[in-house]
Order: sequence, then C-alpha cells, then structure tokens
Amino acid sequence: MLAQEENELLTRVGPGTRAGKLLRRYWQPVALVEELPKGGSPLNVEILGERLVLFRDDRDRLGLLDLHCSHRGADLSYGRLEDGGLRCIYHGWLYDVCGKVLDMPGEADGGEKIRDSIQHLAYPCQEAGGVIFAYLGPEPKPLLPRYEFLSVPQEQRSVTKVFQNCNYLQGNEGNIDPVHISFLHRIMDRNRPQDEIKRRDIAPTIDIELTNFGLRIYAARKAGPQEQLVRITNFVMPNLAAFNGAMEGQGYSVNWHVPIDDTHHWKYSFIFSRRQALSEGLRGKNRFETTPDYKPLRHKENRYLQDRSSMDVIYTGIGRNFMDHDICATEGLGPIQDRTKEHLISSDKAIVASRKLILKSITDIEEGRDPAHVVRDPNANRFTNLIVASEVISASLDRREFAKSKEAEIRQSSEAR
Ligand code: FES
Ligand SMILES: [Fe+2]
Repeated sequence: MLAQEENELLTRVGPGTRAGKLLRRYWQPVALVEELPKGGSPLNVEILGERLVLFRDDRDRLGLLDLHCSHRGADLSYGRLEDGGLRCIYHGWLYDVCGKVLDMPGEADGGEKIRDSIQHLAYPCQEAGGVIFAYLGPEPKPLLPRYEFLSVPQEQRSVTKVFQNCNYLQGNEGNIDPVHISFLHRIMDRNRPQDEIKRRDIAPTIDIELTNFGLRIYAARKAGPQEQLVRITNFVMPNLAAFNGAMEGQGYSVNWHVPIDDTHHWKYSFIFSRRQALSEGLRGKNRFETTPDYKPLRHKENRYLQDRSSMDVIYTGIGRNFMDHDICATEGLGPIQDRTKEHLISSDKAIVASRKLILKSITDIEEGRDPAHVVRDPNANRFTNLIVASEVISASLDRREFAKSKEAEIRQSSEAR
C-alpha cells in the first residue's frame, strides 16, 4: 500500500513532475521506424504529456519539435518538408531539426535580425532496433543502452506497439508479477512442457537481486521431486521489463511502457532471437493484431470480447493471446491505480522493490546524482547480466549460480557478434 502522495509521485509524468523528471533522464521510444520511413509524413506525437512533431528532413535527419509553431502556434505536423527543415503552413516559418528558425518569410529580410533570438523546443532523436528514441532531459545526454534486443540483426528481432488505456506504472508492474501467469494466462488445453508446472505450483518462491540496471527477479516452482522450474524476469529502470516470452531460451521479450500522459501509454513490445531469423508469425503485427493506429482489437468498450462460454478452457475468456489478458488486467485497475487501497502480499515483493528503486532514483536526481541505469561509459554499455530464463533445473542447484551460468552464455554470444 502507498500513501496518496507517493502514488501521485510515481504516476504523474508531465513536465516539472518528479517522476517526469526521472523518466526524462533516459532515452525513450517515441515512434516505430515503420511509422516514419524515409520521406514519410511528419507525425504528431505525445510523450510524457508533451505535444510534439516528429519528422525527417530532406537529408533524412530526425527532428522532434514542439508541435506548436513559435510564431502563432500553428500545428507543425501539417508542415511542408522542404529547404532543409519543416516549414509551417500558416506563415511559412522554417525550422531545422535542432529547432533553429532558418527562415521567417513574413519579414522583409527573412527575419535575419530576429530569428536567432528564437529557440524552438527541440529534442535529440536516434534510431535503433526498429524504434526512434528521443531524449527529453537535460544535457549531457546519456548513451542509449546497447541492449541485445536493439543490437541483433534486423531479421532476428521484431517490435510493435499497443495503446494502453491506463497509467504506465501499472502496465510495467504487471510484467514483474510472477504469480499472475499461473492464473491470468492459464489455458487449460495448452500443453507445452512448462505449462503444467505453472498450473500446478501457483505459489512460487520469489527472490530478488539488485543489479546495475534494476532488479533480477527469480520465481521458482516445484517441477518434480528433484526439480524446480526457475523463471528469471527483470525490472529495468525506469519503465521496462525483460521476460521469457515466445522465444523459449533463444532470446526474450521486452515491454517498454512509455507514458503518453498520466492516464494513457504505449507499450512497445520487443522480441528477439540470438540465433536465428524470426518466423513470420512472430514479426510485428502478426504477433499481436491491432488497428492500423496500434489500438488493441479487444478493449474496455467491447469488454475485451470476453466469451464466458470459453472459460472452461481459457481462464480469462479473453482469447489465447497473453497481451490481451494483460491489457484487460492492467486497464481494469483504473486510469491510475489507487495504490492506497491495495493489500500487497509476499509474492508482490518485486513490485515493492521496484517502487523503492524508482523513489530512490528520484531522490538521487534531486541530490545531484545520476539515477540507476543512466549509462555514460561506452565501455560499460553492455548488459550481459540482463538474464532472462525459464528452465527446469535440479532442485539442489542454487538459483544465483544458475543465473551466472546463463550470463556466461550471453557473454559468449555477444562476443561472437
Ligand atoms: S504560426 Fe507558424 S508561421 Fe505563423
Ligand atoms: Fe502477463
């Protein structure tokens, strides 16, 4: 349970808010590359409560500017892409990707004498792993972490995004809640080797370890007299999680929960394989069908198309795709979950620890320190300790020793690349 003011502190993300300042210390996904290909139309985007325009200029440089023109506020997403920048269609002011006014045609001299006094709000962007990232915080900007899911060859990874009708924090807290997979995602006729174990042992032993990127979370279920099923999931500061999904050991899934505003967010959902090209079924929207503007087909207004007659087989009655189950569960908590009314139990310890880490990181910034997982050293920009696993191992094997052996495998594969 949280006090009301702590809940407000963790969930309000607009400019000037304390969690908003924390989230702005990290590169954040702002669009999929497929939304803004070379020569594509400018995009009207909203992130962390800010209305912005994302575009590529005629030299393919990325720009992210305040949506409203510095002259009289027109919407720049309708602007013309020409002359080395984005030109407002109202009176023709021209901006470059850095927010510099290059031309002010309403003035006789093109505004030569006054245009340098105007700095239009602009944020740096970069592309990686099929995503356009932006940095909305103070200089100096940190490095974009070289995560495996952004670095493997294109055919070995896939990313899509899905609109979520709720605050970002409850979305990410769902990823680090190891017990819910025994209930929310239970499908009685699904019989992959580990499914039965997850159905049978519904109260895993949970252990957490602090790392340089956030938290490593172990959940161990009894798999047999001499065996345990160990799942390792990770909370990655400040708004993402890495967990075992469809890749079953060759790679993993990542959900990155990017606030649009306080009560809506985008879930950027990545999947990658270290070894081979992904099958068609695992790529982009094939993995999770959405509307063309990335809204889920099952949503609150159609009650997630719950079919109660299917509940003998599908625990939720909400189809077989886990993403739909998660959307129903996390949106059901309300636009911003009221954490003053929750009753956390021992199995929620990763959620408690993640909130503490976020709160500590907010204090770090306020006391002049970098928060956890802000990366500045290029030599330390590798995360072979970001381990994801779901394996049946000997009941006597120490789980942390098991994690070390997985790290050695990741290191080998990253050196081979
Ligand atoms: S409002 Fe954009 S140029 Fe006037
Ligand atoms: Fe889930």
